[in-house]
Amino acid sequence: MQAEYRQRRQQLMDKIALGTGIFHSAPRAVMHGDVDYNFRQDSDFFYLTGFNEPDAVAVLAPHHPEYQFVLFVQPKHPLMETWTGYRIGVDLAKEDYGADQVYSIAELDEHLPQYLAGADRIYYRLGRDRTFDQRILEHWQHCIAKVPREGFGPIALEDPLRVLHPQRLIKSEGELSLLRQAIEISTEAHNLARQIAQPGCFEYEVQAEMERLFRLRGGLGPAYPSIVASGFNACTLHYTENSRQLQDQDLLLIDAGCSYEYYNADITRTFPVNGRFTPEQKALYELVLTAQEAAIAQVQPGNPYNAIHDKAVEVLTTGLVDLGLLRGQVSTLIEEEKYKPFYMHRTGHWLGLDVHDVGVYKLNKETWQTFTPGHVVTVEPGLYIGPDIQLDEDQPEVPERWRGIGIRIEDDVLVTSTGHEVLTQAVPKAIDQLNHH
Ligand code: GLY
Ligand code: MN
Ligand code: MN
Repeated sequence: MQAEYRQRRQQLMDKIALGTGIFHSAPRAVMHGDVDYNFRQDSDFFYLTGFNEPDAVAVLAPHHPEYQFVLFVQPKHPLMETWTGYRIGVDLAKEDYGADQVYSIAELDEHLPQYLAGADRIYYRLGRDRTFDQRILEHWQHCIAKVPREGFGPIALEDPLRVLHPQRLIKSEGELSLLRQAIEISTEAHNLARQIAQPGCFEYEVQAEMERLFRLRGGLGPAYPSIVASGFNACTLHYTENSRQLQDQDLLLIDAGCSYEYYNADITRTFPVNGRFTPEQKALYELVLTAQEAAIAQVQPGNPYNAIHDKAVEVLTTGLVDLGLLRGQVSTLIEEEKYKPFYMHRTGHWLGLDVHDVGVYKLNKETWQTFTPGHVVTVEPGLYIGPDIQLDEDQPEVPERWRGIGIRIEDDVLVTSTGHEVLTQAVPKAIDQLNHH
């Protein structure tokens, strides 16, 4: 694995050449008072180092005559380690993480300047830790003050978005195997959820059994707050209270995935709690499934990213007209976004170390990113007919029997050289597989 981290740094350094990259570990996140949430490393920092401690800074300075990869880490401190846990420390960090030079984090202000002096720009992401931002900005100001006499220096501050994130967008075999592990655990949890969900049990019981498996199988826990939404709750996109009792004739929408070594599964399934779709549920479910499969078919190298959304919207809008829920010409309805009361979110996102992973969707104002082997994208269309759904005046009134139904189907899809692989295909979604009683 060290070889892979080294290769990632080299790839970035080849790109930034005369620049200096500064990557900060994640800030501590307060739960309440002086109690913190579990530490979760910053994804850029982790991607480049594999180093999993707070209070650390990685510097990449390809132009530096001696040291190109420099780490600042928490020094060994036996007393503090008794309270907050083992620290790798300066000496081992050098050995085990392949840094050319390692300093204590306390020496950051003293040593950082030498890695900035020879740079033409600084790559740094602002906005995650204002106090630390301030320190970096002060270092930058000192550098700029010297430029008139030195004739050189970092006069630009650039976000790593265009240099590092295209690299993170293409997943290596090593990354894919961690993602597959996250998906395997999540698959088992979804399959268990379908077995235990039945009228009378509570949403949180299903959530608890799934999250138990996430941890039991060695995952870190949920990759994002689990959504276990029965009946009309499924029409609230980010419903996470998970407190309702499942009723006979409810659909249950579960959007839950496990994080494994920081790689995230993101899976949604919707199924009837009593094992039988009502006619309205079935019609809508078939429509979402058709839209999802048509959208997945668009995941092909060379296709524009937006092809999945365009296809999903086209299929869903056509289907809503066929069902009498929308009225008018499909192309006009799409143009005027008349489908939006039923389908208000986009069809997917990049997936990786972040659930909504880094990487641009548009290359410039006009051009979409094109699918490339190694991209992983979610495909997750849905339909949501809330109890109080409101359509425009030129549209029919939604009959009562359709109300309170929310459906989403979400898979994680890898772009391959010949097409795609649905990484989450082992979680059933065909209608006859969901008739489980
Ligand atoms: N679970 C978050 C998402 O689907 O984007
Ligand atoms: Mn999801
Ligand atoms: Mn998603």
